Amino acid sequence: MAKLIYLQTIQSSSGKLTVFENLLMGGIRRVFYIYDSVNVIRGRHRHRDSIHALCCVAGKCKVYVNNGEKEEIYYLDSPEKCLILEPHDWREMYDFDKKSILLCMSNQFYDPEDYIEEPYTSTQKFRDYSFVLD
Ligand code: TYD
Repeated sequence: MAKLIYLQTIQSSSGKLTVFENLLMGGIRRVFYIYDSVNVIRGRHRHRDSIHALCCVAGKCKVYVNNGEKEEIYYLDSPEKCLILEPHDWREMYDFDKKSILLCMSNQFYDPEDYIEEPYTSTQKFRDYSFVLD
């Protein structure tokens, strides 16, 4: 299941510095970021192999996660929060604001064959209501 972690953050009189180091098995092979995504749902897939780390470095967003047995909604509202997603975790990212920038790191290069577009049907307690949950 997905794991929410708090990244090491060094605070000084000159501000904050947050570090993402040695957290993805196999290292980081790809970084992309999602922005300009107000009022839409991104994601809606799981993966065959790749592990992802999601960090909202500006603004905020929510992430609905379903691993086929359990579902959770994570609120990424700080650049110190980082959500590690296993390949089997179905994810939906939503509730972005205008300044949201969701940084996504992957341990694999981009491969359309790594995507599974089929949602789990076993547990969907939150899924249809995700927009009204805070
Ligand atoms: P997608 O992963 O479906 O985005 P999201 O899940 O956030 O809605 O990707 C959107 C488009 O971008 C799709 O055409 C594939 C392309 N894409 C790449 O070319 N390289 C990448 O690393 C990623 C993540 C997507």
